[in-house]
Amino acid sequence: MKYAVLATWKMALEGTRKAAALLKEGEHSGRAIVEGITMVEDEPSFHSVGFGGRPNAEGRVFLDGGYMDGDTLHFGAVGSIENFRSAVRIAYSLQEGDANNFLVGEGAERYAEEHGFEKRDNVTEEAMELYMKEKDRLQELSAYDGHDTVCFLALDQNGTLCAATSTSGLFMKQPGRVGDTPLPGVGYYADSKVGAAAATGMGEEIMKGALSYAAIRMMKDGMSAQEAAETAVFELDRELKERNGHANPMSLIVLAKDGSCGIGTNVSFTWCYASDTEEAAVHEITLP
Ligand code: GLY
Repeated sequence: MKYAVLATWKMALEGTRKAAALLKEGEHSGRAIVEGITMVEDEPSFHSVGFGGRPNAEGRVFLDGGYMDGDTLHFGAVGSIENFRSAVRIAYSLQEGDANNFLVGEGAERYAEEHGFEKRDNVTEEAMELYMKEKDRLQELSAYDGHDTVCFLALDQNGTLCAATSTSGLFMKQPGRVGDTPLPGVGYYADSKVGAAAATGMGEEIMKGALSYAAIRMMKDGMSAQEAAETAVFELDRELKERNGHANPMSLIVLAKDGSCGIGTNVSFTWCYASDTEEAAVHEITLP
């Protein structure tokens, strides 16, 4: 395969198409997926990312995002930032240098402001209506309600694998709460010698298994993308059920260095894939 792109959820279809078109022109995988994710962040009808994202318990939208380059293993990440257009663009810019790659809260916002990143109030009328309707039912809400992270993985024509993520996190999350999405090794990982992986679902569960790195480690030991994705999710799901009696939803996408992909999930899940031999399309696993 010359190039390939894999992304979480059907909301990523247009972004997947865009990233694939850029990869076809020879673009770097990292720049291609940042463009793809930004399209999702800009669309207010997608309720778990960027503009129109789900508000926290105080009715404010805070964003998390991460990025990793599989050639250098450099990563950049931001957690709990408010009033910026694109968490992933800021994360991408933080990959340079050996320190200060992961910024949160006020420090991340100051960095973004100083570096000229576009600002935006991400609270839409629709998101606020939902917040007003649900705010008194906080105890009844499922932890999983409305927090689908957008994750993109890509392989470019030079063999570079990259991973990127963006989310507004859990609906009604506590102020200051950060999930798996900006955490390298947990929400995403990329190693051009092996593969790339990224996770969506309940961040606190995904953290317990460092899910993205777990899959890449399994591929280093010889598993295919599909075997690694399934094994990483099912092993963690089993461990959590044994220890706690239940496991919350989690899904993992994996892209191997040959462009083949793998999906592991303990919940119904959609994803998008495109390559030099396949048009961008939505795929689905439906679980009871
Ligand atoms: N997976 C997104 C979050 O838990 O914040």
